Amino acid sequence: MEKEFKTTFEVISGKNDLNEIEKKLYETAFEARENAYAPYSKFDVGCALLLENGEIVKGSNQENAAYPSGLCAERTTIFWTSANYPNMKIEKLFVIGAPKEAVSSVPIPPCGACRQSILEYEAKQETPIEIYFASLNGEIFKTKSIRDLLPFSFDASFL
Ligand code: THU
Repeated sequence: MEKEFKTTFEVISGKNDLNEIEKKLYETAFEARENAYAPYSKFDVGCALLLENGEIVKGSNQENAAYPSGLCAERTTIFWTSANYPNMKIEKLFVIGAPKEAVSSVPIPPCGACRQSILEYEAKQETPIEIYFASLNGEIFKTKSIRDLLPFSFDASFL
């Protein structure tokens, strides 16, 4: 017997089709990208999270001469958030990444390790985190939950 997973995502044609709060998150992720420390890959990534109290938290990728010691923008941001607001729910996460000098780009999805980390907090808070992956000046993809990006996910329910 063969079974299937179905993933759905929304394609938003550009920044002008976002609502006010989404636009603010997009701009914050864009700004956060300017603080990326990515001298090795020269691939700058910014992230912005919306908390249930309306606050926005931002972060960027931070690389290291010992390459594996660096961290992606999404994990930098979500770990800081959990460390500082341990009981605050996260409603939305925006990520925007592109090579340093790029003027246009495609939407970049969170890497596998970031998906697993985001899932941890989604499972903990028991409400979905909407994920938006944006391009510099074009389409934005949106999923309703990190589970749409991580089928067959491993979480604490197995332990
Ligand atoms: N990166 C992120 O920040 N997020 C992702 O989801 C994908 C990759 C960073 C890691 C590294 O600093 C650079 O992009 C190139 O992989």
